[in-house]
Amino acid sequence: MTISTKQKVLLRPVAMRDATREYLSWLNDPEVTKYLELGYRGGYTIEMLHKDIKQYNTDESVLWYAIRIHDGIHVGNIKININKNHQFGELGFIIGRGYWGNGYATEAVEIMCDLAFNEYGLRRIVAGYYDDNEGSRRIFQKNGFEVEGILKNHRWSPSSDRWVDEYRVALTNGS
Ligand SMILES: CC(C)(COP(=O)(O)OP(=O)(O)OC[C@H]1O[C@@H](n2cnc3c(N)ncnc32)[C@H](O)[C@@H]1OP(=O)(O)O)[C@@H](O)C(=O)NCCC(=O)NCCS
Repeated sequence: MTISTKQKVLLRPVAMRDATREYLSWLNDPEVTKYLELGYRGGYTIEMLHKDIKQYNTDESVLWYAIRIHDGIHVGNIKININKNHQFGELGFIIGRGYWGNGYATEAVEIMCDLAFNEYGLRRIVAGYYDDNEGSRRIFQKNGFEVEGILKNHRWSPSSDRWVDEYRVALTNGS
């Protein structure tokens, strides 16, 4: 089922058929994972990917979508972990390296926030980015997120080779 279509991208729940070699290559690409909580581990296998897809697809607290462009190509993923008690969700996303710079992440975040507020009744969407992740800073800014806090020297950045601040940002429904 296609969830939503905008000008550039559409979102569909991640399915087993998305577990391709290309998707796997993003998860093993240090340039893609360097700003993620999981960091760069390498050695991510197709079996691990199958397990994650199975697990997330049966977990009602996870909204996990493949980002597709209009010729059907899978270019990235976007996810919200829902905290039902407090009606907020933690947002994260990746775009495969070959697809960067086309506005895909900006638009996927917009669609996902609409969905989370209007279909899932969330009040707030929260996220974090490292202070050296300029792409994410812009994506959140363009989608109306506000900085609500700075966690000092909170994350290790392999690309900057230093401890970096994590900016905590949020978008509130109706804000
Ligand atoms: C960050 C990331 C999601 C950006 O995806 P994308 O589809 O290329 O982003 P967009 O094309 O929507 O770009 C949005 C803005 O960020 C800017 N931008 C994107 N990547 C950038 C980079 N590496 N350096 C500086 N600016 C960047 C774009 O120029 C654009 O700004 P503009 O509107 O002023 O032109 C992608 O690089 C990625 O997956 N990185 C690794 C994982 C990651 O960081 N996830 C987010 C964790 S919070």
